[in-house]
Formats: sequence, C-alpha cells, structure tokens
Amino acid sequence: MKKINTTMIYIFCALGGLLFGYDTGIISGAILFIKQDMALNALQEGIVVSSILLGAMMGACIITPLSDKYGRRKMLLVCAFVFTSGAIFSAVSLNMFFLTVSRIFLGIAVGGASALVPLYISEMAPTNRRGSLATLNQLMITIGILSAYLVALFYANIANGWRLMIGFAAIPAIVVFLGALFLPESPRWLFEKGRENQSIDVLKRLRINKDNQPDLDLVSKEMNEMKEAISQEKGGFKDLVQKWVRPALVAAIGIAIFQQFIGINTVIYYAPTIFVNLNLGTSSAILSTVGIGILNVLVSMLALYIMDKIDRKKLLIFGSLGMFMSLIILSIFTNIHASTNMLGYITLVSLCLYIFFFALTWGPISWVIIGEVFPLKVRGLGAGVTSLANWFSNLVVALIFPVLFEKFDTYLFLAFACVAILSIFFVKRKVFETRGKSLEEIEIALYKNASFNS
Ligand code: BGC
Repeated sequence: MKKINTTMIYIFCALGGLLFGYDTGIISGAILFIKQDMALNALQEGIVVSSILLGAMMGACIITPLSDKYGRRKMLLVCAFVFTSGAIFSAVSLNMFFLTVSRIFLGIAVGGASALVPLYISEMAPTNRRGSLATLNQLMITIGILSAYLVALFYANIANGWRLMIGFAAIPAIVVFLGALFLPESPRWLFEKGRENQSIDVLKRLRINKDNQPDLDLVSKEMNEMKEAISQEKGGFKDLVQKWVRPALVAAIGIAIFQQFIGINTVIYYAPTIFVNLNLGTSSAILSTVGIGILNVLVSMLALYIMDKIDRKKLLIFGSLGMFMSLIILSIFTNIHASTNMLGYITLVSLCLYIFFFALTWGPISWVIIGEVFPLKVRGLGAGVTSLANWFSNLVVALIFPVLFEKFDTYLFLAFACVAILSIFFVKRKVFETRGKSLEEIEIALYKNASFNS
C-alpha cells in the first residue's frame, strides 16, 4: 500500500492559506501605485481594494457546497486554478474595470480556500493534532501577509512594479495546483458518499504507527465513530439551521464576526496609514509595518505549539483581555501631549501587543473552529457560511475604517476595545469546548445536548 507523506499533505493544503494572506495583503502596497497609474479617485480606490473581499464572499458561498458534492480535493484544485489565473489577469489589467473584475475573480479562490483548507485539514488530522494542524493554515496566512509586505517593499521603485507585486502570487498558486493533484480525498467525505472502502484505504495511509504500519485500531475506531455520526443524522440541506446544529452555527459565526470587528485588519491593511498619521516618515511607517508582519508570523508559530495543549475557550478569553488592554493603551496614550517619537513608540508597542494577543488566539482559533464544530453532513456548508460571515465583516470594517479614522483618530480604537469585552461574554455563553474531542464526539455531543434539552 502506498503510504502518504502526511506532513506534505498538510503543508500543501496550508499553502492555500499563504495565497489568502498574500492576495489580501499585497493590495495595501500595490494600491499606492495603481492609484497613480490609473488616476483613481478615492471611491475607485476603495472599490479596487475591497473587490477581493467581495469575491471572497462569493467564493465562500459557492465553493463549499460544491465541495460537499464533488469532494474537498477537487475543489482545492479548482481554487488553485482560479488563484493562478486571477493573479495573472489582475497583473495584466489595463484599466480599473478589468482590474476590479479580476480581483473579484481572484477573491472567489481566496474565499473558497479560506473555508476549504481548514475543513480539509480537520477531516484528515488525528484528534490530538487537529488544532495545531489547522493553525498551520493561520501561520501560512501570516507568512503570506508578510511576503506581501516584503515584495511590495522590493518592487516599490520599479516601473509597473504593482503588476509584478500582484502577478507574483501566480507562482505559489501553480505549486498548490500541482501539489493538490497528488492529495488524497478526505476520508470523511468519502465515507459520507458511501465509498467506505476508499475511506478505509485513505485512513490506513494516514494513521501510521511507530512501526511505520497502518494503525488498525485507530482506523477502526475512527470508522465506527463516522458510522455512528452518520446514523444519527436526519440528512438534507436544512440541517444547518436545525435545532441541534444551531449551537455550532452560532458559535462559529459569532467567532468569525468578532474576529473581524475586533479590528484586526485595521492594523493589517492600514498600519502604514496609522503610522503616517502620527507624522512618522513613510519609510519608518513601512518598516514598522514589516515589523508587525514578522511578529504576526512568529506568534502564529507559538500558537501552533500551544493549540492542542490549552482549551480554545480559555485562549479566546485571554486574547480578548489582551487586545482590550492594548487597544485602551493605543487610544488613550496616543492622545496625550508628547513628542512624535514618543507617540510613535507607544503606537508601535501597543500595536505589537495587540498583534501578539490576536495571533496567539483569535487569529488561528476562528479558522480552527470552522472545520470542527459542524456535523459531517453540513460541515462544508457550515464552513462556507462561517467564512462568508468572516469576509462580510472584514469588508464592512475595511470600508468604514478610513472614514471613521479620519473623524475620531485613535479614539476609534475604543470602539474595538468594547468589541473585545463583548467577545468575552459571547465566548463564555455561546462557545463550547472542542479541544481533544474527535469530530464525531463533537457531533454526538451536539445531538445529545439537543435531545436532552427538548
Ligand atoms: C484573519 C484575517 C487577517 C489575518 C491576520 C486571519 O485569521 O481572518 O482577516 O488578515 O488573520 O493575520
């Protein structure tokens, strides 16, 4: 039997996360040059920047139900293809209309991958490593964002540099496409489609014991769990809003919305703007932004290490408290009378603290949760709807931030601090713990809970 190099599987599909990070992050640098080249006004600028988010919403809607029908692997291939062509179309765009349409098209892959990758990873991963492996996706997102910052810095002074910045993403996209050709289908999806033998075959190749042989005990345990999970379901599309699934839906969507309304992308997309506003020179602003990008990656690595060791709920609450504290520092202390240097330091330190708490907790957990809370039959759909909620919230925040920031300056961060506090109540009341439980145990617990309460 052909064994599967499991590390390669996870790395290949997490590369989808890298493209998500790169394609969303690159616009912050590229837009400065696109604006000049195409003589865009403020409204047109906003449209170009947010077009990818609109596409991502569409991607989350259409690609994941398709993944329930045609399989996770096939849709990953489709995503990789759209990633490649979308990057090329965007890079060669001659006018704003073409660029916007290409970025919407590219966004379909971004949104699709954002739902598919965590889903696929959590269906392949063993219970005790599921959280960490899904965190790999977030790590890749942050590496994508950092690469985008660095590539933007590198091509900033080259004629038509923005085309290279945007087109660059086609290279990893081709790698993902070639890698996805060799990925196995998700055993849980195969099982659900009645292809039990193929499902056993993939599981045997994934669950390898110390002697380098298939761990048959583990395989039969997982098969039994899948059987039980399937037999308890009512089946059908409407399951997502059925009473017993609703707690999963509320928890996942709530986390997705809070992840965005806590303000993360005001920092990721607008950090240079925040620094420039403090009269820090453009180059210090860009350099500080790169610093934030590096910290984001490093802390995501730490998250990988702790994800299966500490309860998700505890981490979320810890993260909210930390972000609350840093946002308060940012909004209050940047409004005192101090030298530009001093204000620059305070801003940098509070933004770094904020990124630290986000990258350790809400960043990864939001995407870990979407692959694990939903019952098998609606897992693809649930992941899609949750991802849609995330992208929609992202779009709202990205669109309103510049206007509100102009009015309220750093006091605006007090609003995000309030969201951080609200998120604690939400986590305490609506989120249930998933660490250390198999996907089927989570599903059965949801079902039993509903029958118990009715
Ligand atoms: C969020 C993105 C954000 C990124 C920052 C992700 O978890 O969904 O919106 O840009 O983290 O690292």
